[in-house]
Amino acid sequence: MPITSWKVGAGGTARATASMLDPRLIADLRAARRVVVFTGAGMSAESGIPTFRDRLTGLWAQVDPMEVATARAFRANPQRTWDWHVQLAEAVRAAAPNAGHAAIAALEQAGPEVTVITQNVDALHHRAGSREVVELHGNLLRLTSFVDEEAAFAAASPTICRVCDGYAVWEHCDPYAERGDLAAIELRAGPVPRCPGCGALLRPDVVWFGEPLAVDAIEAAWNAVDRCEVLIAVGASLEVEPAASLPWRALARGARVVEVNPVPTALAAQCHAVISGAAAEVLPALFAAIWPER
Ligand code: APR
Repeated sequence: MPITSWKVGAGGTARATASMLDPRLIADLRAARRVVVFTGAGMSAESGIPTFRDRLTGLWAQVDPMEVATARAFRANPQRTWDWHVQLAEAVRAAAPNAGHAAIAALEQAGPEVTVITQNVDALHHRAGSREVVELHGNLLRLTSFVDEEAAFAAASPTICRVCDGYAVWEHCDPYAERGDLAAIELRAGPVPRCPGCGALLRPDVVWFGEPLAVDAIEAAWNAVDRCEVLIAVGASLEVEPAASLPWRALARGARVVEVNPVPTALAAQCHAVISGAAAEVLPALFAAIWPER
């Protein structure tokens, strides 16, 4: 393994794709009833959203993630963390799904049951029309309250605010505040907003380093991986757990695993095919070759 490894550039066509893949693998992919598409930041690169670990243009080449993407960083300097996320939100708002997102959404019409498991927080899979999407790392444009666990445990009698379900920390808590009041606040430039209900600082609803994933999200991902016959890993460096283990979990359970990435990852040596190229070019060609009836 891998059985097949090929490179697609601007000239990559569906016909070339089909002839380059191992016929046994094509047959397995075609026969699959359940497909998982597992995506990382490279999926949205051609939509104009930077990846994290590209050596020159990646977000983590510009700033230490420990300074903007941890609860500790937010506690120390909420405004800096907020401002960094506002910048990313601008890129996400300006972005549109690319041909790769569209090809994944259209794959549902080709017959297999498709589950998208994404580490991306840009909601571009939803916007492209994918129906079954597991957002492992949350959603950047959704806000939640920052529950400062250190302060909450220090307080004598913490209470739960009905607006945000966080600990009430503000003496002017508005008992008439509604969930709609929270929904009306957006990730925009300006001072860090507070929950109208409890006064807690608001934060983007994403998973920062050191935080656990939502239990329902990781369970949904494990269930989909355990049931799939094919997993296609797209644009993920596989450096962050527990998401990084999902393709290996699929392999261990006997699924066919294909990697789509211009730079092969550690998975490349283990999976059934490696397609070296950009998601927006490779996925439409790959899917047209495997599921031409679409
Ligand atoms: N098409 C497909 N893949 C691409 C493209 C492209 N056009 N451009 C880059 N890539 C690949 C890179 O080669 C790399 O393997 O996308 C991957 C991006 O890797 P990372 O930047 O590490 O992004 P990701 O794997 O999603 O990071 C995981 O790290 O900081 C956290 O929470 C953040 O969800 C993120 C997690």
